[in-house]
Amino acid sequence: MLKGKILICDDDPTLSQILKEELEQENYNCTIVYNGNSAIEELKINYYDILLLDLNLPDISGLEVLKFSKINLPFTQVIMLTGSSDIHQAVECMKNGAYDFITKPYSFEELVQIVDKALEKKNLLTNNFALSEEFKKHSGFEIIGESKLFQELLALARRAAQTDSPILIQGETGTGKEVLARYIHSISPRREKPIVTLNCASLPDTLFESELFGHEKGSFTDAKQTKPGLVEVANEGSLFLDEIGELSLLIQPKLLRFLETGEFRRVGGIYNKKSNVRIIAATNKNLINEVRDRKFREDLFFRLNVIPLVIPPLRERKEDIIPLAEYFLNVKFRSKFPKILSDEAREFLINHDYPGNVRELEHLIERSLIFCDGETIYPKHFNLMLFPAAAVNSIEDEILRTHSKPLSRSSIKEIEKIHIKSVLDANNWNREASAKVLGISLKTLYTKIIKYNLQ
Ligand SMILES: Nc1ncnc2c1ncn2[C@@H]1O[C@H](COP(=O)(O)OP(=O)(O)OP(=O)(O)O)[C@@H](O)[C@H]1O
Ligand SMILES: [Mg+2]
Repeated sequence: MLKGKILICDDDPTLSQILKEELEQENYNCTIVYNGNSAIEELKINYYDILLLDLNLPDISGLEVLKFSKINLPFTQVIMLTGSSDIHQAVECMKNGAYDFITKPYSFEELVQIVDKALEKKNLLTNNFALSEEFKKHSGFEIIGESKLFQELLALARRAAQTDSPILIQGETGTGKEVLARYIHSISPRREKPIVTLNCASLPDTLFESELFGHEKGSFTDAKQTKPGLVEVANEGSLFLDEIGELSLLIQPKLLRFLETGEFRRVGGIYNKKSNVRIIAATNKNLINEVRDRKFREDLFFRLNVIPLVIPPLRERKEDIIPLAEYFLNVKFRSKFPKILSDEAREFLINHDYPGNVRELEHLIERSLIFCDGETIYPKHFNLMLFPAAAVNSIEDEILRTHSKPLSRSSIKEIEKIHIKSVLDANNWNREASAKVLGISLKTLYTKIIKYNLQ
């Protein structure tokens, strides 16, 4: 099983390649970059558990990359690779939050030990974080949505919460099925008891069964101790069965039996046990199709579908986009330096299609916070890949929007003003780079910025 993801940043290609191969033997997935700026670009886009960072890089110092990582990726653990003469700098790195440093040449065993420990620390940090998030979820639960469609859904969910009947939540990926499940639990009479989640796609059949119903000591090779099932842990609370559409045909009758009688048997057990849980199931599949294709038992479907709740995709409830965006900006990812959405950014967000629904919107906002240095978020901050295709208005569109007339009836000055502004925006207001693109001197650019009152 994959242990974690590592980014190796070292300008020595042979060494990095060997390191990568060795670490992959230890079930780490590794990516190599050869300089500091590429490391930063990579860290902006992809998530890494561990960064193995050479101190002496050809472009910027490893210390700078370390600082970037510490500010933007608080969980990622950074291990410095240093020469024996760099001791002072290595100490400096430790002061700046590096997990550890290893002097070259290092023994591979030593390195793996440190990497494993660093991963442990990272996992502890994320678990702690998850727990405190969990806590936040239970105290002061936030579910956002002002559209009529969403409000109607919430009204249904509130009524459903008061009962013990199974609930089936359906909706495309990222629409908020888990959020809704937790919301229902948090306002139900069971709210003082736990809500336990089990993902039906996560485990092979036998392990899944033992996770759900528990097992007796010795019931299979790895069963060294008796372990209660999640149905027991969730007793008097709720059990959230995520991705129920993936539940195997072998487990389906066992779950059905439990739903009908409240009884189950641990793997290897000889007694039936009882548990009282409220089942909330979720899927992004159309379960009726699965029933038709005989991948899902019809009787189980009817048993689960007592209260069906369907979350509409975000593109069908556009009124929810800005409230959600502002919630992510002001609450979920709130930082010391609050940022606001420009009108252009709002327009971009509203016009976007969101195949990944609310999760995609959340990621757009999170990403914009990384890319936006100022106070105001513009479309270009959402996603560098998306930007050229979706966000840059052509000059024609912009002229139409600001001057209400087509390009063919506009003066050179009007077009020049818009073009200069769009080049400045596209270059993050870097005047030098923009002047180059425009083919004018820096001085001319300054004069035009003042003349057209650009900002
Ligand atoms: N109404 C909402 N209010 C606040 N946050 C939301 C809302 N809906 C979704 N989110 C956020 O969007 C992200 C995706 O939500 P969630 O995990 O519940 O989606 P899902 O439907 O279970 O997705 P998947 O099908 O991929 O499992 C989460 O980070 C969640 O906090
Ligand atoms: Mg989910």
